[in-house]
Amino acid sequence: MTVRTAIRQASSLLEEAGTPAARLTAEVLLCHALDRERAWLFGHPEEELSDAERARFGRALHERLGGKPTQYITGRQEFYGREFAVSPDVLIPRPETEHVVETALAMQDGVRRVVDAGCGSGALAVTLRLEMDAEVWGTDISPAALKVAAANARRLQAPVHFLACDLTAAIGSQTVDLLVSNPPYVAHADYAGLQREVRDWEPHVALFAGETGLEMYARLVGEARRVLRPGGALVLELGFKTYGRVREMFGSPWRDIRVVPDLAGIPRVVAARLP
Ligand SMILES: C[S@@+](CC[C@H](N)C(=O)[O-])C[C@H]1O[C@@H](n2cnc3c(N)ncnc32)[C@H](O)[C@@H]1O
Repeated sequence: MTVRTAIRQASSLLEEAGTPAARLTAEVLLCHALDRERAWLFGHPEEELSDAERARFGRALHERLGGKPTQYITGRQEFYGREFAVSPDVLIPRPETEHVVETALAMQDGVRRVVDAGCGSGALAVTLRLEMDAEVWGTDISPAALKVAAANARRLQAPVHFLACDLTAAIGSQTVDLLVSNPPYVAHADYAGLQREVRDWEPHVALFAGETGLEMYARLVGEARRVLRPGGALVLELGFKTYGRVREMFGSPWRDIRVVPDLAGIPRVVAARLP
């Protein structure tokens, strides 16, 4: 079997199974099986796969057809221009979450200490540590997620401090200049409507917030008032259609409340400051 045939056959199998971006997925899985970059595939369409490579590719394809997300098969996902290791212990970082980074960077003046509550793979905490001159702490309730985050921080040479705790429980009062979070925001009732890849593979502790899906927002807005210094800022990623109800949580004394839309124009991030 040549590279070209492998891609063609896998693409049509994935397409028949309704996998989005079937050809791209076939190429990414083949790169993974051959341990090659995508550019190499285009330059070597007639290259024959060895038996071991065919077997690796077959296994990866089988897993993807069974619903396993491509990133959990390859073990990686790009975020803000860097490669993060991912496993089913962590949420796969989403491109929309880069708006949280951009919003935080725009507010970095005078920021010396940042906390990312619910850091998962470390995508936000590691990126912020590498993009701004501040001490960064990442917290998570999942020890397995924290292991992945710590390994990413080590590999990307980002000296982030990690803490296993409930949101900001282990953070001292009035010690933080900037609190960021992409919290779980799916309501229990929305379980059945989730994409199969998400529902069956991503950690439920990273997805589900409670009955309404807004529970973590309410807690974070409350906890922010304890951990933030005067003038400190809170930056939260918003779930689909949550903006109105999250906005209502920012009563007095919050100020400079603003919403950042994503590329599709959907409210994606809310930011606010304490006096
Ligand atoms: C939506 S994921 C976000 C992960 C990562 N920040 C990102 O943007 O890719 C939410 C994370 O919050 C963590 N989490 C859930 N409940 C938590 C809690 N009560 N305290 C701390 N972390 C929590 C989950 O383990 C998960 O890693």
